[in-house]
Amino acid sequence: MSDSTGNPLDDPAADPFEVAATAAEDIARITGVERHDIALTLGSGWGKAAELLGETTASFPATQVTGFSAPALTGHVGTLRSVVTPKGRRVLVIGARTHFYEGHGPRRVVHSVRTAAATGARTMVLTNGAGGIKHTWTPGTPVLISDHINLTGATPLEGATFIDLTDLYSLRLRDLARSIDPTLDEGVYCQFHGPQYETPAEVQMAKAIGGHIVGMSTALEAIAARQAGMEVLGFSLITNMAAGIQKTPLSHHEVLDAGREAEPVISSLLARVIGAL
Ligand code: HPA
Repeated sequence: MSDSTGNPLDDPAADPFEVAATAAEDIARITGVERHDIALTLGSGWGKAAELLGETTASFPATQVTGFSAPALTGHVGTLRSVVTPKGRRVLVIGARTHFYEGHGPRRVVHSVRTAAATGARTMVLTNGAGGIKHTWTPGTPVLISDHINLTGATPLEGATFIDLTDLYSLRLRDLARSIDPTLDEGVYCQFHGPQYETPAEVQMAKAIGGHIVGMSTALEAIAARQAGMEVLGFSLITNMAAGIQKTPLSHHEVLDAGREAEPVISSLLARVIGAL
């Protein structure tokens, strides 16, 4: 049953895993692919990777799948794709992210991850565009996420669901990524609520508590992926130096421009890493 928004996840009585199972059935029907092996969520700047992964066998609006909502922002394409890699692995490419700041709650934020798990995917690759705290990270630098600090005050887990998050961002997969690009640096991702960018004082707080990257996604999704038993790999594209690290103001256009410029390089990196999974 769905409420007046038409999204079944907005019904508090709905079981989000059942909604995800229905969504996975939708995907199997639309794509003709019974099981996917790997899922990839595309953040700002990472959009071209899908084309380099292999052959796209199906591409469709996410809104055709149960529980997905229309995209809220330019730069976030609401498309799902099924791609087959040269090795024959099936990749579900998710170009439809629901952000926590949209205010629909954690169930909607992590629905794509739970759906990916229900399609059979055992590996979840999460990418985003984010602000960098390390001075050596100029805009356009891709970095691995080594860990996160969840500053949203929210969780996708419901009830007394105790999930171990040690090695949430798999060391095995980070090492594999570094075997493809040894220059990859890594850092701790801080998920803020957004949608306002951080104040310089908030960036200094993030730095003081051990953060290196600031953004508005990924942590809640990674938690849900681990709950579903998936192995997680996270990448941030540093689109800008975080507020106060650079002295000029931040703009959403700057973030999108940096993403566009870095896109060819980081997309090929991502395709090579996924090709090696
Ligand atoms: N902060 C939060 N989210 C972001 C940023 C940032 O500086 N850049 C891109 N996404």
